[in-house]
Amino acid sequence: MLNGLTFPVTPSVLIVDDILSNLELVEAVLTGEGYRVLKATNGRDAINIYEQEQPDIAVLDIMMPDIDGYQLCQILKDMAGKRYFPIVLLTALNDKESRIKGIECGADDFISKPFEPRAFLAKLKSLLRIKFLYDELDHSENIILTLAVALEARDPYTRGHSTRVGDLSRKFAEYIGLSSYDQDMIRKAGLLHDIGKIGLSESLLMKPARLTEEEHDVIKRHPIIGEEICRPLNSLQFILPAIRHHHERWDGKGFPDGLKGEEIPLYARILAIVDSFDAMLSERPYRKGLSFSEVLDIFVKERDYGQWDPVLVGNFIDMLRVLGEDYMINSRYTFSLES
Ligand SMILES: [Fe+2]
Repeated sequence: MLNGLTFPVTPSVLIVDDILSNLELVEAVLTGEGYRVLKATNGRDAINIYEQEQPDIAVLDIMMPDIDGYQLCQILKDMAGKRYFPIVLLTALNDKESRIKGIECGADDFISKPFEPRAFLAKLKSLLRIKFLYDELDHSENIILTLAVALEARDPYTRGHSTRVGDLSRKFAEYIGLSSYDQDMIRKAGLLHDIGKIGLSESLLMKPARLTEEEHDVIKRHPIIGEEICRPLNSLQFILPAIRHHHERWDGKGFPDGLKGEEIPLYARILAIVDSFDAMLSERPYRKGLSFSEVLDIFVKERDYGQWDPVLVGNFIDMLRVLGEDYMINSRYTFSLES
């Protein structure tokens, strides 16, 4: 417990300053509060420490020889990638210019010199609270994503399906010019679109014959169950409609809500195409998988017949032609194409 605030682990703070007395001052304040302190007097050492120790937050002086605080801030943010890694810069009092430059380099907050311990500790704690919240979210999201992959691994006919749908949906989103945020979200939606099948029995999923109407009704509930499973996670809110509506049809004859045309969310329209593409290529207990050119022919013929968004199907056909069969073979479609 750090001064009344509980963290899941003892936070480690990377402090970087080329002046040793400054380092020791900050270190004394932090260790006195129970933090674990990692020190570096230059950018190179700081980068090594970041790689080896993965600290929770960094406090950087700006004026340093070789790699300055701005450059180091940018490097560490790049290394952290999508993980949230808060960085505080030490600036001279009211130095507006350095603050603007710091924000441009990705800094999360600033501490003015001369150093005021209480304000410093308060800022650190609030950034760490956000950092641990993000970590927790990432952790929960990873559990669900792992679950999705584990779920389909029990069925040899669908093994790898969600991963392929996720990857190809992301590629398709990129192809039609959606933002990198959208691409990332669509990939997650692809990974999770069938998570609602978790409650379905293996005998039903692997039935070596066509399904009865009652069995179909049970399977048709999986988009709603999937939405319910992912609903508690804030980070997945944006993809809930894609999970719920990935079996809607452009002509309104899909399920669960019978949405029509552009009533169907864009992510769901994309998933519907990629999901069908992968399903057609894959072998099922009751039929062989189709070849790449057979699937391409089906998309060309069916483009305007109501199952999918015709404009998106046109884009998808273009993308398949550009990527070509080699791409599919070199990615994870090998199994289906060889079958
Ligand atoms: Fe599905």
